[in-house]
Amino acid sequence: MSFNNLDTLYRQVIMDHYKNPRNKGVLEDDSLTVNMNNPTCGDRIQLTFKLEDGKVADAKFEGEGCSISMSSASMMTQAIKGKTVEDALKMSTIFSDMMLGKDYDESLDLGDIEALQGVSQFPARIKCATLAWKAMEKGMKEE
Ligand code: FES
Repeated sequence: MSFNNLDTLYRQVIMDHYKNPRNKGVLEDDSLTVNMNNPTCGDRIQLTFKLEDGKVADAKFEGEGCSISMSSASMMTQAIKGKTVEDALKMSTIFSDMMLGKDYDESLDLGDIEALQGVSQFPARIKCATLAWKAMEKGMKEE
């Protein structure tokens, strides 16, 4: 089965984020910077984000990678903006559970992220989808 077998609507959402990425760029000043590679392919992401009063005030990403990794980064930055650090980390756990095909906590609105659910059927692509989330977790935990 290939990526093209993903549900059409979900695929459209993924391709929209890939072609029109939200929050693409680099934050300057007091932002946190995290660089991470996907070891299986060498693709990379740079995530910059700014925390204020325990919340994600802003987040941007740069990088090179496949449609799944870049759309996931776009969705992730969109989802965590304005969230508390605790909720951003909770979303990361939810996303990880989703990728592993487990039941996941539905108490937070996941928005477009749900479009990536189908990636759980393609084990080789799960690291693509989780790359941006792992970078975010790393940054939060180092803060
Ligand atoms: Fe490299 Fe997806 S193939 S991140």
